[in-house]
Amino acid sequence: MSDLLFATNNIHKLREIQEILGNNFKILSLKDVNLDVEIPETQETIEGNAAQKARFIRETTGMNCFADDTGLEINALDGRPGVYSARYAGEGCSFDDNIDKILMELSGIENRKACFRCSICLIMDGSEYLFEGRVDGIITKERQGSDGFGYDPVFLPDGYRQTFAEMPAYLKNGISHRGKAVLKMVRFLKKQ
Ligand code: IMP
Repeated sequence: MSDLLFATNNIHKLREIQEILGNNFKILSLKDVNLDVEIPETQETIEGNAAQKARFIRETTGMNCFADDTGLEINALDGRPGVYSARYAGEGCSFDDNIDKILMELSGIENRKACFRCSICLIMDGSEYLFEGRVDGIITKERQGSDGFGYDPVFLPDGYRQTFAEMPAYLKNGISHRGKAVLKMVRFLKKQ
């Protein structure tokens, strides 16, 4: 099993990605390699942020690694929160603050179409690869469910009756933005 460093300490994401990758690779978090650093994330696109984070980690550790970045894009809000999804309600805000903000901005609006987009930048033996995934859906009017993280309680993927926060992990992973991007990365890694 090869080690692959994932530029995150987000326990939800680590679990999700290890589940999808199976036993082919052992995913290490920043904590696993005792790296306690502020990773720069200052680009204006999710692709740019994923690459910036992966390059920083590669330069700091020299390890094969990958980084992801996700944005929730809401049609009626001209694509916001997009690249600012993590801190939409302000620096240091919680997942709940972000949900409250989008629900408020969407109040009275019928067009609730949205998508999650995820970019993963993998740096393997010095070369860079980009993998992308997207899932379309709508923003519900109220929170439904308590699993998952982030905007999961208000994201209802097209064709389903459960929000991401009501679904079992395997179902979310099978259709989610990150699940699709990771699957592309896994297919690539298995060919190496
Ligand atoms: P990140 O770039 O992957 O950290 O994602 C930025 C923000 O998007 C996170 O802080 C979450 O609020 C949100 N987000 C990312 N992935 C998901 C997901 O799978 N479900 C719900 N929200 C997510």
